[in-house]
Amino acid sequence: MTQRVAIHGDLLDFTAEPAWGETESAAVRWRPDHWLLVEDGRIAAVQSEAPGLDWPRDEHAGRLILPGFIDTHVHSPQLDVIGSYGSALLDWLDTYTFPAERRYADAAVAAEGAALFLDALLAHGTTAAVVFPTVHKVAANALFEAAAARGMRLVAGKVLMDRHAPDGLRDDVLQAEADCRELIARWHGHDRLAYAVTVRFAPTSTPEQLAMAGRLCSEDPTLYMQTHVAENRDEVRWVHELFPEARSYLDVYARAGLLHARSVLAHGIWLDDADRAVLREAGAQIAHSPSSNLFLGSGLFDWRAAEAAGAAVTLASDVGGGTSLSMLRTMADAYKVQALAGQRLTAWKALHAATRGAARSLALDHEIGSLEPGRIADVCVWDWAAGAVGARRMEVARGLHEKVFAWMTLGDERCLAAAYVNGVRRHGR
Ligand code: GUN
Ligand code: ZN
Repeated sequence: MTQRVAIHGDLLDFTAEPAWGETESAAVRWRPDHWLLVEDGRIAAVQSEAPGLDWPRDEHAGRLILPGFIDTHVHSPQLDVIGSYGSALLDWLDTYTFPAERRYADAAVAAEGAALFLDALLAHGTTAAVVFPTVHKVAANALFEAAAARGMRLVAGKVLMDRHAPDGLRDDVLQAEADCRELIARWHGHDRLAYAVTVRFAPTSTPEQLAMAGRLCSEDPTLYMQTHVAENRDEVRWVHELFPEARSYLDVYARAGLLHARSVLAHGIWLDDADRAVLREAGAQIAHSPSSNLFLGSGLFDWRAAEAAGAAVTLASDVGGGTSLSMLRTMADAYKVQALAGQRLTAWKALHAATRGAARSLALDHEIGSLEPGRIADVCVWDWAAGAVGARRMEVARGLHEKVFAWMTLGDERCLAAAYVNGVRRHGR
């Protein structure tokens, strides 16, 4: 039987990429008081007239309706270490993160953690994500199973690390390759799932393991690749010691054949112009993670330089280095990072990066990221405010950009009224 729902509210999405600094942008598509008609999980139409009575209605008049957010870099097992005090990247990994990730060798821990994590994403208005589980095959399987059960679009893969990690968190090249191949066969292209060859970061893989990862990518160009790059200055120094033959940190990945149009590299704070040119040529993207960069004291990402060089930039929470799964909090932090560099990030640029821009960079714009007929109905409904301060600010806001910018800056997951995944309401009050 056909499943239908008509969602009524104020629709906002993008038809193109907004230009830097433009608060009035032709790329913004604002359709207040419209109906989004969803049939069998897909957007069937968008219209101003109310549909016939054969359409069950979800009434959200006066609320904001957006494409579900896409978080392009987040760690599912790290909810257990979010908000951990007092260290920078390398110490934070050893002190908090690696011990927490070791627990995911256990299938029951991995299954419980995956369910908690994905439900938390949905409760924050994030309907698609690029995710690191742990080194354990069982944890990758648990994450994919939980995403399939929720009908979610997820890109993930078993973490590769065969050195500089504690017992219980290392694989080896042969076993890792066998695990990757098994996981790819089982999950890549199944339901709404895709596999990412997942190199944790250069220091935790031997050159042999990086080469194996590169071979997997070249055998199947539909695979994604995810990793971290140039996040922290001590990390960058360590990579130079470990790979003296490479021109730069990014060059370690380039030499291993890991840079391509489906590569998602978190952070990229300490890159130079030559690196940015390499990113552009590869068509790879930077998953900018402002909350994490501030919390771990990693540095200030130069979004404009990346964009000027033609490198794509998307937005990511990087929980547990980041302190919130909320893409609203992430956008607000991104604004502040740019402000420290004397730049101003518009609400349009930020929102685009978290929706249509991420979908395009992941080659998923035929499926998600906009409110276009034919797209899968991953849609979130938002209140404009969650308390008296936000409500007051909304009352006095003039113009759409002012209102959306204040919402992005003051709002969080308490504003979420409903989240639909594949046309099914998965979260709501
Ligand atoms: N670099 C290597 N692993 C990690 C991680 O788990 N989080 C962050 N932020 N950076 C990393
Ligand atoms: Zn990360």
